[in-house]
Amino acid sequence: MGNRKKIKKMRILAIETSCDETAIALVEFEKNGTPVRVLKNLISSQIPIHQKYGGVVPEVAARTHVMEIVTLLDEAFGSKLKAQGSKLPFDAIAVTRGPGLATALRVGLETGRTLAYALNKPIVGINHLEGHIASAWLNTENRRAWQFPLLALIVSGGHTELVLMKDFCQYKIVGQTRDDAAGEAFDKSAKLMGLPYPGGPQIAKLADGGDAKVFELPRPMMKHDSFDFSFSGLKTAVRQTLERHQNISKKQKQDFTASLQQAIVDVLIEKTLRAAKRFKVKGVLVVGGVSANRELRRQLGERIVRELKDVAFLPSDLAYITDNAAMIATAGFWRLQKGEKHDWKKMDVDPEWNLE
Ligand code: KG4
Ligand code: ZN
Repeated sequence: MGNRKKIKKMRILAIETSCDETAIALVEFEKNGTPVRVLKNLISSQIPIHQKYGGVVPEVAARTHVMEIVTLLDEAFGSKLKAQGSKLPFDAIAVTRGPGLATALRVGLETGRTLAYALNKPIVGINHLEGHIASAWLNTENRRAWQFPLLALIVSGGHTELVLMKDFCQYKIVGQTRDDAAGEAFDKSAKLMGLPYPGGPQIAKLADGGDAKVFELPRPMMKHDSFDFSFSGLKTAVRQTLERHQNISKKQKQDFTASLQQAIVDVLIEKTLRAAKRFKVKGVLVVGGVSANRELRRQLGERIVRELKDVAFLPSDLAYITDNAAMIATAGFWRLQKGEKHDWKKMDVDPEWNLE
């Protein structure tokens, strides 16, 4: 990166409020873009609040962010934030500007803008998906020479995308879901089964004791030429199978969730491997909430080792997989190093922000 030499050490305060986690982080970086130290990483999850509605309610999320964000800032910095000028514990601010829930994003953005104004610090608005990609750089096991081009499989509650990364901050979406995201396939199926929100971890837990070969479920678009995904048909198949098995036993539940998980994992892996070969990448990242899925990580890792010579498997650390602000700080560092800086007066949320 161009201006790399100018920066020795930089501490970034990051804010993330795009969905149902209020998060604040303070991360220190050195020259080469590798996060040196995560000094603070506070996350206040709203999952218990949204559980009673069976999903995230935007208005409730925004109100909860408002309640939580200053408390988290106080917890992270206390009186240090009230100090002036050079005594401040950070050099710049990174804040998620989109995509996500508009009212939820606004809470984080306004907090960031207010701090940038009051403390006279540079601020950058970050794409939440770039943040997820950057989370792979927080995995100490990935600390080797990062070589481009890379392929990132982003699998979260709202997104399923295959992104070709030619360099820091340079993205091309080569495949994406045409309907539901992988996380939605987990969450909606879990809801049909009467499991609490969010469904992904619940399904993974049940699937642990199950046999993935018992129930036959479709692998939508798996053999399709494009790198796009489609998961809504799977949801329909889940509904139909459940209708046929009214009094489902515990064992059947385990087998069913294992079969469902495998159907999702198969499609994700097949497309990722094919894209990795096609674009001759040097490494494959898997990031976003669904990448917490142990089977996805294990099987994807094994197949990359087996089928793709000299391609590194670069998952993000379990600690930074679901929404957090340390990943936003990392993407913020890349942007600031490129000389990007936004005018707090003109910053606005972008709920539909595309990564490209
Ligand atoms: O990235 P994330 O925390 O939030 C969004 O940006 O959407 O992802 C949340 C998603 C949810 O759909 C949740 O069910 C899923 O990640 N998830 C999992 C697992 N843990 C979280 N899906 C499958 N297996 C898991 N172990
Ligand atoms: Zn996310």
